[in-house]
Amino acid sequence: MNNLEKLKELVLKLKDEKRLDKDEWILLIESQSPELMEFASEHARDVREAHYGKDVYVRGLIEISNYCKNDCYYCGIRKSNLNAHRYRLSKETILDCCREGHELGYRTFVMQGGEDMHYSDDLVCDIVSSIKAEFPDSAVTLSIGERSRESYAKFKEAGADRYLLRHETACEAHYRRLHPDELTLANRKRCLYDLKELGFQVGAGFMVGAPYQTVDNLAEDMIFLKELSPHMVGIGPFIPHHDTPFKDMPAGRAEQTLYFLSLTRLMLPSVLLPATTALGTISDNGRELGMLAGANVVMPNLSPAEVRGDYLLYDNKLCTGDETAQNLANLKKRMESVGFNLSMTRGDWKE
Ligand code: 5AD
Repeated sequence: MNNLEKLKELVLKLKDEKRLDKDEWILLIESQSPELMEFASEHARDVREAHYGKDVYVRGLIEISNYCKNDCYYCGIRKSNLNAHRYRLSKETILDCCREGHELGYRTFVMQGGEDMHYSDDLVCDIVSSIKAEFPDSAVTLSIGERSRESYAKFKEAGADRYLLRHETACEAHYRRLHPDELTLANRKRCLYDLKELGFQVGAGFMVGAPYQTVDNLAEDMIFLKELSPHMVGIGPFIPHHDTPFKDMPAGRAEQTLYFLSLTRLMLPSVLLPATTALGTISDNGRELGMLAGANVVMPNLSPAEVRGDYLLYDNKLCTGDETAQNLANLKKRMESVGFNLSMTRGDWKE
């Protein structure tokens, strides 16, 4: 058996048993080639179709605040970036975004922001319960960072359905190179397990091509994801931001991101997997390629136009044109061009 055949067997093993050991992961990651990618993506599409058909779920993304108490070295809204033009949205503004989104057909609202303590537990709960009261047919996703288990329990009680919190890297040493000492991988993982136990649909994930990332790290990311078995996984390329310590670091590559989308779909068959904005930013047809690699979610931007240009985690982030929630017709065309259809349902995780 030649090398490619052996690698294909590993892909099939992942598809059947949904688990590989670390050495197998390392081999699969190191050996990425166009042929292997194509093989993995064909099988990923199979798996995706078996669980979700040709449907692509859309989420209206509301970027509620770019204030952040953290100082992650890769992120454009880190607190040390004095050039960031800061904003936060009021409850009424957030509700207005949901009203506009609901009118357009959105049935999932994602409230994402930096770790901004202006949003006390009480305020978050008030916003969530107001959205749920006005739009009982819609899902609410929170993506506002690390909080206590008690806070998460209150958010759940208020009606939040889902929570996104990328683990960023499952390797302790790598985590240290991306974050200041106040942030720990242990707490990140604690949050994810708490969220899962509390009954949220949970999303984890990481950046492909993050500074100092090794093949070993990526293997650990996949092993961690299998262990956690989240309902959603966000994977996008790292893209440098000019006002961060990582400004001169190279961006992650689209090909490797697509490969990881396929491997993630094979490992977690019913995962909700977005083709991320970051992927769309480094590749013109990133969204379409993402779907072909096994993704099934897109998250257009529903933030008020005035602030869209301020939520800049990395340089050149798309925030206009087909990126906007208002431009559903174009998104629909793009998805249909590769054989998929937009589904305007809540798009919950399927067993
Ligand atoms: N490039 C790509 N993704 C980034 N994120 C933060 N900064 C960057 C960057 N420079 C990602 C992180 C975070 C998510 C909201 O955005 O993974 O969890």
